[in-house]
Amino acid sequence: MLNKRAKAHSLLFMFMFLLILKFSLSQGDELELLLSFKSSVNDPSRFLSNWNFSTPLCLWHGISCNDFSRVKVIELTEKNISGIISPSIFHLSDIEIINLSTNQFSGKIPNDLVSPVLLRHLNLSNNYLTGGVPNCSISLEILDLGNNLFSGKIPPQIGVCSNLKELHLGANNLVGRIPSSISNISSLEILTLACNKLIGQIPHALSKMKSLKWIFFGHNNLSGEIPRELFNLVSLNHLDLVDNNLSGQIPSSLGNLTNLQYLFLYENKLTGLLPRSIFGLKKLVELDLSYNHLSGEIPELIIELKSLEILHLSSNNFIGKIPNALAFLPRLQLVRLSLNSLTGEIPSVICNISSIEVLNLADNNLSGTITPCLGNFSISLSILDLQRNSFHGTILETFREDCGLRNINFNGNKLEGSLPRSLANCRNLEMMDIGDNKMNGTFPYWLDTLPELQVLVLRSNKLHGVLRSSKIIHPFPKLRILDLANNDFTGPLPKGIIKSMKAMMNLSEQQSSLQYMHGRYYYYHVNLTVKGFYSEFPEISKTLTSMDLSNNNFYGEIPSLIGKLSSLRGLDLSHNSLSGQIPTSLGNLTSLEWLDLSSNKLTGQIPNELTDMTFLAFLNVSHNRLTGPIPQGKQFSTLENGSYEGNLALCGFPLSKACNNDGRKQPSPSFLKEADDSESKISFGWKIVLMGYGCGLIFGAVVGYLTFRNGEPKWFVALYRVKYH
Ligand SMILES: *[C@@H]1O[C@H](CO)[C@@H](O)[C@H](O)[C@H]1NC(C)=O
Ligand SMILES: *[C@@H]1O[C@H](CO)[C@@H](O)[C@H](O)[C@H]1NC(C)=O
Ligand SMILES: *[C@@H]1O[C@H](CO)[C@@H](O)[C@H](O)[C@H]1NC(C)=O
Ligand SMILES: *[C@@H]1O[C@H](CO)[C@@H](O)[C@H](O)[C@H]1NC(C)=O
Ligand SMILES: *[C@@H]1O[C@H](CO)[C@@H](O)[C@H](O)[C@H]1NC(C)=O
Ligand SMILES: *[C@@H]1O[C@H](CO)[C@@H](O)[C@H](O)[C@H]1NC(C)=O
Ligand SMILES: *[C@@H]1O[C@H](CO)[C@@H](O)[C@H](O)[C@H]1NC(C)=O
Ligand SMILES: *[C@@H]1O[C@H](CO)[C@@H](O)[C@H](O)[C@H]1NC(C)=O
Ligand SMILES: *[C@@H]1O[C@H](CO)[C@@H](O)[C@H](O)[C@H]1NC(C)=O
Ligand SMILES: *[C@@H]1O[C@H](CO)[C@@H](O)[C@H](O)[C@H]1NC(C)=O
Ligand SMILES: *[C@@H]1O[C@H](CO)[C@@H](O)[C@H](O)[C@H]1NC(C)=O
Ligand SMILES: *[C@@H]1O[C@H](CO)[C@@H](O)[C@H](O)[C@H]1NC(C)=O
Repeated sequence: MLNKRAKAHSLLFMFMFLLILKFSLSQGDELELLLSFKSSVNDPSRFLSNWNFSTPLCLWHGISCNDFSRVKVIELTEKNISGIISPSIFHLSDIEIINLSTNQFSGKIPNDLVSPVLLRHLNLSNNYLTGGVPNCSISLEILDLGNNLFSGKIPPQIGVCSNLKELHLGANNLVGRIPSSISNISSLEILTLACNKLIGQIPHALSKMKSLKWIFFGHNNLSGEIPRELFNLVSLNHLDLVDNNLSGQIPSSLGNLTNLQYLFLYENKLTGLLPRSIFGLKKLVELDLSYNHLSGEIPELIIELKSLEILHLSSNNFIGKIPNALAFLPRLQLVRLSLNSLTGEIPSVICNISSIEVLNLADNNLSGTITPCLGNFSISLSILDLQRNSFHGTILETFREDCGLRNINFNGNKLEGSLPRSLANCRNLEMMDIGDNKMNGTFPYWLDTLPELQVLVLRSNKLHGVLRSSKIIHPFPKLRILDLANNDFTGPLPKGIIKSMKAMMNLSEQQSSLQYMHGRYYYYHVNLTVKGFYSEFPEISKTLTSMDLSNNNFYGEIPSLIGKLSSLRGLDLSHNSLSGQIPTSLGNLTSLEWLDLSSNKLTGQIPNELTDMTFLAFLNVSHNRLTGPIPQGKQFSTLENGSYEGNLALCGFPLSKACNNDGRKQPSPSFLKEADDSESKISFGWKIVLMGYGCGLIFGAVVGYLTFRNGEPKWFVALYRVKYH
């Protein structure tokens, strides 16, 4: 007994001795190692200012110690620190967590992380680190090197890190194949290799990793078939192989993944039918197989996917009808079946889906009338895109009081009759495109009270009549894009409407041209005539403003009030019967990039004030009755003959006919500001948004990917953070 006690005492003594020894030996060393780290960085926000001798080390910002007063955690995330990461911090003997994510660190890190034996978490994501992926230590549980500039191959030694639970190498410049030794990490739950340049096949050996829950291999250059062994990973919850070069059929062993909730295989070269086994995935929440070469029908068996919220099958070769079964999926929110060869009518049971938000059936061969129930669909429906099908008949008066639609797109069908007045019930309406149909009737001035309406396209129909002035003071308060081209409207240009288009006058400067109109997984898009060409805006920037009244029978003068619409970027009044002079106030439209007044009956001179339009890249005043000298200088020196042809008596550059002494000076042509090319700017990033996420937005870990903020996937927010990092 006594003996035992003495033993215990001596043990305790020994322990305390060791402790003190450890303590006294290490503090100074640790201090030095950390100061050495500090000396190699640049710390503009002075977060590290108390890293000095007058502050006890364990109280330094970003440092936490363990019970033995030794440094256990370094946590310096989002501190705007730059410089290199001194290897010294990897010599801290008790360090367990190093988190330097989201800073501006650059340079290389040690290529061997074996020495810090207790290191469990290393997060260096979102920096500018270079060099190869290091060999890691056996103690590591989380290694996040995502969104850096690491290059070279993934070292086969990665398989040594047998305790890793999370490995994030996404958004780097890694090349080569995925080493099959990676499958030695049997405890791995999350594997992110997305957004690199990896090639070759997906290793079969991955099927050994029974703990894997999330796989992110998207946006690489992987090829071959999806190995059927992959689908033995019964824990798998999230599988992302998007934007690779995968071919062959979807293996039917997919049905083994009974825990799968998210399946993303879009943008590959997959062929064949949907395997029946896919309908056994009872927990599936999101299914995105868009942009492949899948064929056959969408079977009614889809009724089995009771958890499904998002169904994206766009741009494949699917045929047959829209399955009735969709109506019996109680949680369905987004349905995108566009760009297939679906036929038949929209099943009216579809209106029973009470949770639906986006229904996109564009670019198919659907026919019949637009199911009347679509107007009084559930109030949750915000985007209804049926463009470019073969729907006919009239749009019925069914839009109910609480209509929640934000975007209605019926462009390119065979719809007739007049626009229903009940559309005015859709108070949230932001965009309506009924272009390219056979609508008759008059201008829907009853829409002028809609507080959010920004885009109204009625081009290429048979609408007629005079555009009346509105009864309210501020009609169309937010309208920015108005396209009434190719109709039979007549009468003078509507002064009443023009003078009150607030959104075309002082478009808030705060609106960034990088913000686009969108819904969940859906970007608004429109075709407009820009600089003489009918072209596509795959995204609609919140600063795009244009008015197209061409190809109608408007007559009378161009009201000088038009000079008030100072935010306009495009104005097309061509092919009407407008007469009188070109108002000098047009020169006030200083944002204008394209102006088409061709094929009217305009007389007089081209006002010199038009040279104030410093962004003007396209001018067409041809086929009028204009006379006199062409204004010179600024943007006008970039315009060519075609702008002026078919007039009575224009003269001066660029025409060969010189002006005889008219008193106007001929300033030497000077190239001022180049007009920015709105189109190329606008098509940037189109693919990214359509598909989901793109590269450069993966933030090391992908935890945020599944959570939504303001109805927007988090990665979208991340995009901006990365871009302006
Ligand atoms: C040391 O840190 C303290 C805060 O603990 C600070 O007030 C002091 O200015 C620092 N000294 C130097 C030389 O930076
Ligand atoms: C980060 O540092 C840069 C200079 O290195 C500075 O221009 C920028 O404003 C800083 N940002 C923040 C959020 O502190
Ligand atoms: C690493 O840090 C970033 C934030 O800077 C965070 O978003 C990410 O989730 C962290 N990684 C892991 C694996 O926790
Ligand atoms: C990783 O370890 C292996 C041997 O285990 C070694 O050959 C290789 O050079 C190491 N790589 C780096 C980058 O240190
Ligand atoms: C690192 O810091 C980030 C941001 O504070 C945090 O999200 C993350 O969980 C931390 N830990 C690790 C291991 O990345
Ligand atoms: C690691 O993986 C490779 C290739 O898959 C294999 O040859 C090797 O035996 C594995 N090592 C261990 C320790 O499991
Ligand atoms: C994908 O890999 C192939 C070779 O396997 C190569 O020819 C091709 O250029 C790569 N594509 C991209 C986009 O990297
Ligand atoms: C895609 O895979 C096919 C084989 O399925 C191959 O012939 C082709 O080169 C690959 N393309 C790229 C860009 O890797
Ligand atoms: C996976 O599915 C295939 C056929 O679909 C079956 O033969 C195989 O036994 C299944 N594997 C497991 C592990 O369930
Ligand atoms: C408008 O279209 C409807 C349906 O096609 C037709 O019955 C009606 O006569 C047309 N009205 C006019 C004025 O053309
Ligand atoms: C829209 O513009 C694109 C690109 O210019 C064109 O291919 C497409 O046919 C246009 N759509 C319609 C309905 O005309
Ligand atoms: C055009 O601008 C001038 C000078 O700023 C101003 O006097 C005139 O009223 C403006 N015209 C219109 C129609 O806004």
